[in-house]
Amino acid sequence: MTHPTAATAPRTDWSAAIRPRRIGHTIEVHDLIGSTNDRAWELLADEGGDGAVVLAEEQSAGRGRRGREWLSPPGVNLTLSAAVRPDLPARSAWQLGLATALATFGACREVAPGVGLGLKWPNDVVAGSGAKVAGLLLETIMLGDRLSGAVLGIGINVNWRPEEMPAEIADRATSLLALTGAEVDRVVLLGRLLDRLDAELLALESGRTPLPRYRSACITLGQEVSVELASTTVAGRAVDLDETGSLLLDTPAGRLTLPTGEVVALRGEPHA
Ligand code: BTN
Repeated sequence: MTHPTAATAPRTDWSAAIRPRRIGHTIEVHDLIGSTNDRAWELLADEGGDGAVVLAEEQSAGRGRRGREWLSPPGVNLTLSAAVRPDLPARSAWQLGLATALATFGACREVAPGVGLGLKWPNDVVAGSGAKVAGLLLETIMLGDRLSGAVLGIGINVNWRPEEMPAEIADRATSLLALTGAEVDRVVLLGRLLDRLDAELLALESGRTPLPRYRSACITLGQEVSVELASTTVAGRAVDLDETGSLLLDTPAGRLTLPTGEVVALRGEPHA
């Protein structure tokens, strides 16, 4: 069976995902772009840039965390970035990552109910097997003690067929299609995601922390994990998150507090 490629598939009409809200009041769509995060930074400088969304059917230089490449074939997944000027103190920047992760997790659950999704600390949406469904790349700038701008980059594996995933990620990635056995409407998913991002940002700016909801969704807690840091790897039980979102890891040498910035990779023990 052959599947339509981006060149042969009809263009998706994304307009139903635009609503009169802050995040996604406009959606700029590209067939091909370098990275949606880079374009979102450009839009943030414009009037009306706060809340602007950039979506691409294909990225030629999609970025993952820690300098990795983000792989996503044209026309089947969601790759987008939201430009925001959050009204938040710089010390709350870590909450933006948790809030974006919760919005992505919630939207994926809405369109794929019953497939047992969870959040892998700090901000991956994963299936029960640990395979990755979505990843986030958050970039921020501070002005004094305020968070003056942020780009929330989100990649969701939506209708990517497992047999079409590159060998280097096939054992640790999955998609909503692979999990549910049915194609997911990307426009509906985008609309739900932007609704949720909008609500999460409002909650943050109103002083409500996402931490308790994040803790409930985080499947890393309670697991034996190995955590790769810049120059060493530590293993232990992930017991909790502290009040700044850092992971508390109980190791034979005692309890470690690991801020997201220090962690290169986190691997859970294989699930039964
Ligand atoms: C990760 O898990 O490593 C983060 C992946 C983030 C990928 C998204 S796709 C849209 C946006 N543009 C990028 O270049 N990266 C993010």
